[in-house]
Amino acid sequence: MKGNQCLSILYLFLFLASFYVTFLVSSVEARKSSALSHKKHHKQKHGKGKSGRYCPPPATPTPTPTPTTPPSGSTYPVMSNNFNVLSFGAKGNGATDDSKALLEAWEAACKVQGATVEIPSGYKFFIKPITLQGPCMPHLVLQIDGTVLAPPKVSSWPESGLFQWINFKWVQNFTIQGSGTVDGQGSEWWVSSQSTTNKKSYQPAKIPNMKPSALRFYGSNSITVRDITITNSPLCHLKFDNSIGVQVHNVTISSPEDSPNTDGIHLQNSRDVEIHHSNIGCGDDCVSIQTGCSNIHLHHITCGPGHGISLGGLGKDRSVACVSDIVVENIIMQNTLFGARIKTWPGGIGSVKNVSFSNIQVSDVKVPLIIDQFYCESHVHCKNQTGAIAISNIQYSKIVGTYSAQPIHLACSNDIPCSDVDLIDIQLTPSPRNRGLQQALCLNSYGTTKAPLVPRSIDYCLRESHRLVRRVQSSHERICQLGY
Ligand SMILES: *[C@@H]1O[C@H](CO)[C@@H](O)[C@H](O)[C@H]1NC(C)=O
Ligand SMILES: *[C@@H]1O[C@H](CO)[C@@H](O)[C@H](O)[C@H]1NC(C)=O
Ligand SMILES: *[C@@H]1O[C@H](CO)[C@@H](O)[C@H](O)[C@H]1NC(C)=O
Ligand SMILES: *[C@@H]1O[C@H](CO)[C@@H](O)[C@H](O)[C@H]1NC(C)=O
Repeated sequence: MKGNQCLSILYLFLFLASFYVTFLVSSVEARKSSALSHKKHHKQKHGKGKSGRYCPPPATPTPTPTPTTPPSGSTYPVMSNNFNVLSFGAKGNGATDDSKALLEAWEAACKVQGATVEIPSGYKFFIKPITLQGPCMPHLVLQIDGTVLAPPKVSSWPESGLFQWINFKWVQNFTIQGSGTVDGQGSEWWVSSQSTTNKKSYQPAKIPNMKPSALRFYGSNSITVRDITITNSPLCHLKFDNSIGVQVHNVTISSPEDSPNTDGIHLQNSRDVEIHHSNIGCGDDCVSIQTGCSNIHLHHITCGPGHGISLGGLGKDRSVACVSDIVVENIIMQNTLFGARIKTWPGGIGSVKNVSFSNIQVSDVKVPLIIDQFYCESHVHCKNQTGAIAISNIQYSKIVGTYSAQPIHLACSNDIPCSDVDLIDIQLTPSPRNRGLQQALCLNSYGTTKAPLVPRSIDYCLRESHRLVRRVQSSHERICQLGY
């Protein structure tokens, strides 16, 4: 806010000053050179002016970034809007720490409307964990055409910064684009995250509860991420939390299959999100939708290897979780452990409702459709927990392809069964690579089926919807309506 105010005051000053000059010359011809005089004034002002702590000179960083020609006849002061990190002292040799240069380029660009921070192609920029903070002037672009490298050693991440590598905080009307690559160099994290069972071979880093992400958006609005490649991230490639209005498209996310706990995209406490025409493959979930998400639209995504697309785990440690209005469609899953998955911890509170999975093509997927209300990681005891997050209005339609273990596994709790689950046009056949197949399972699941259904066992899987079950559901949904 303060920066914006400073900028407006400066504009006003320049405007008045130029009026004064124009008045003195008092000639109509002089108007032609007015743009020039604006420029001179602008430069002089910053050359001499003391940059007060609370009113820094906008958009005149040292060194001066590449100037761009203003539109002819412009009466605005000439301001560059291209902030190339090389002009801010970045080396781009993949070894020198370029964090400061990126931060300075960001801070300068942040003050200019429609500015671009440029990470040029042909260079590799080594960046330590940093926060790029807003709010900035609208329509800021981070153009990544080169490669951005994270520190390969877990130990070089600061204790305070384990949640993410590059943190975009409180940004609005912001776009990341370009043909470049964001490389998290995360292989040491992958070993660490597994070493609870293998302590001798490696001293594990203290992995926080939230998976460290390569790129994280926090508290941000109207964000677009497009075209870039994100690879080898610590434990998550791209995360949005507490954000509204997100567009992700034409993005490639990839880590090898032996990045066992590494997710593609994480969404948490965010709404109005669209992720499409992207390619995601890593060791864990392609997309993971966590608590507090609503109005999420995923489509035209290729997912695999990995664990598929997941809602949850929700309700860990008896927490409240609310997820609603999710559409997942036109997805190709290849060689994933699961396809469309909803997983909740025993003892959780809240609800998952209005979720639709449609047009999903699976190939060699272990269990394509799964609801698991008994989700529990081995190191936590959840056996005695009662209660569950209510799951209702879940539609599966046009799920076609091959599975290698079980076509459908709907394991819902006895206390709070799953209701209004629809299975429409499910055609799943065993993949040639299966090692023993199981029948479709629907435990405490109520809803309707509609042909074609292959295998036929799906037809008798669900129980008919029940008034009492619905009543149990709505009492749990109420908690979410109260604003959790
Ligand atoms: C920011 O983006 C939102 C949504 O696209 C739009 O409604 C709003 O007007 C934009 N703000 C500015 C200052 O451009
Ligand atoms: C997708 O991104 C690549 C760069 O990674 C670019 O070359 C291509 O034009 C983009 N496609 C679309 C449809 O935007
Ligand atoms: C279900 O979610 C979709 C997608 O967000 C939304 O358009 C629709 O209105 C929701 N339906 C109900 C009954 O809330
Ligand atoms: C589970 O409940 C049993 C019987 O009430 C009790 O003996 C046991 O300690 C409980 N286990 C845990 C992990 O809470």
